[in-house]
Amino acid sequence: MTPDEKAPPGVDPTIPSVARMYDYYLGGKDNFAADREAAEKVIAISVEVGNDVRVAARRNREFLGRAVRMLAESGIRQFVDVGAGLPTQENVHEVVLRAAPDARVVYVDNDPIVLVHARALLAGAGPVPPGVAPVEEWRPGPGLEPDFTTPSYLGVVGRVP
Ligand SMILES: C[S@@+](CC[C@H](N)C(=O)[O-])C[C@H]1O[C@@H](n2cnc3c(N)ncnc32)[C@H](O)[C@@H]1O
Repeated sequence: MTPDEKAPPGVDPTIPSVARMYDYYLGGKDNFAADREAAEKVIAISVEVGNDVRVAARRNREFLGRAVRMLAESGIRQFVDVGAGLPTQENVHEVVLRAAPDARVVYVDNDPIVLVHARALLAGAGPVPPGVAPVEEWRPGPGLEPDFTTPSYLGVVGRVP
């Protein structure tokens, strides 16, 4: 995570998180020792049974990118990404806004570290596209409430227990 592995407030780095383990499978750096240790166990088992979880994670991201791009190109303008995960390459809003700059993307995740990273990513990205915002546990901020009277994508991709 950071050189001294300091966790942001509200995050217990000793408890592995699905989001940070997934980041590790994808080769990311936003994970703690406990995440890496748990992830290595899953990797070992997945390799043993012939279905490497790191390859599965990459394929999953590729599928997500193809799916949201196709939907944006087909005219969908509202995307609610449930279980968004830590920001990585080709995030949903990047793919969607490339295809449809007027689209709206709302991220939902219940892992506090995902929210910390999502805010940092969006803050560092220059002007924040008006429809892109991390949302805590189904409580969209003012003006970000999904309008389900219009055709929308409500996506749950990856593991959401
Ligand atoms: C494996 S990641 C998937 C990331 C991304 N959707 C993808 O497919 O690449 C699963 C994410 O779901 C989140 N999650 C799990 N349970 C959730 C819940 N009940 N509500 C919101 N997010 C949840 C985790 O924190 C994690 O970030």
